[in-house]
Amino acid sequence: MNIVIFNGSPRPHGNTAAMVNAYREGAESTGHHVTVFDVCRMHVAGCLACEYCHTKEQRTCIQKDDMQKIYPVLDEADMLVLASPVYYHGLSGQLKCVIDRIYAPGYPRHLRKSALLLSSGSKDVYGGAIYTYRHSFLEWLHLEDMGVFVAAGDENKSPQLLDRLRAAGAALVDPDDHNVARLVIRAGDVEVRAPLNQTQAARDLMNRLPLTVSGVDSGVDYCCGLKEGTFDEAEKQQGWSNGDVSVSDGWFALLHSGQEQSQDYRVMVVAHLNEAANAQVKALPQQVTFELSLEEPYVSARDFESLEGWS
Ligand SMILES: Cc1cc2nc3c(=O)[nH]c(=O)nc-3n(C[C@H](O)[C@H](O)[C@H](O)COP(=O)(O)O)c2cc1C
Repeated sequence: MNIVIFNGSPRPHGNTAAMVNAYREGAESTGHHVTVFDVCRMHVAGCLACEYCHTKEQRTCIQKDDMQKIYPVLDEADMLVLASPVYYHGLSGQLKCVIDRIYAPGYPRHLRKSALLLSSGSKDVYGGAIYTYRHSFLEWLHLEDMGVFVAAGDENKSPQLLDRLRAAGAALVDPDDHNVARLVIRAGDVEVRAPLNQTQAARDLMNRLPLTVSGVDSGVDYCCGLKEGTFDEAEKQQGWSNGDVSVSDGWFALLHSGQEQSQDYRVMVVAHLNEAANAQVKALPQQVTFELSLEEPYVSARDFESLEGWS
């Protein structure tokens, strides 16, 4: 898989760099492709909160600095590793600037997994950084937790630590469906869930939720007007499968039937309802209002509270 590591330490041969190198070595030894960004050696300004990325040019930051090197790589990444020295009980400021600038793309398209590497002087100082990781990355960005690795004082650069990181990197496996984002579609008492795919249109929809749309059953789909979002014309497919959910050209559609006659149409599919859920949709009345939302944030199975410095 494609792995991006943000190294938030300004010291090129420091403790964080040693953790990053060991993790990278392990991951590369089992065929993963790793890109490390030494963010302290890059020029990345803080987010301006101008909302250009959500109001003018979707998913595009108005600031043209070294984030332009990071954005395309992040959009192709399956996993993001945050690595940082602990500064005043949190991540380094340079790394925080990069994190805040992820606000523009919102949900990087392929991102499924994350891990956190922390180096500190003292023990029990990880609560702030873990809070950010847990709530902003695992929950908000719907990523699967691949581990939190910490090193304090003399543990830094120790052979045991570096071996553990090499082994963790080598043990990574390709993305699965764990913690994939799901679209929740509610109509009255009926609620169905559809896993979202990785198209630009799906990412765009995630950024716009929650939404309310209304439409009528045409016999093959519920077609609801929805203000134009961003989508990549090249990602459209020929025809649909019953249960596909599509968004583009000013429409949100639940394509519940008619796949046999659909080959003449080019459709932007963003999610898919399984057979049982699609049957529930088909049984809805002629005219329906749908409440669309993103499934509740993922809660990691990891027992963060047991990590030193969390509470
Ligand atoms: C500005 C600054 C703030 C720091 N704050 C903390 C802290 O709150 N708790 C702690 O244990 N260590 C703190 N440290 C120590 C670093 O976290 C520690 O030395 C770490 O191993 C440095 O990693 P590096 O070699 O990758 O730069 C701080 C260091 C600096 C420079």
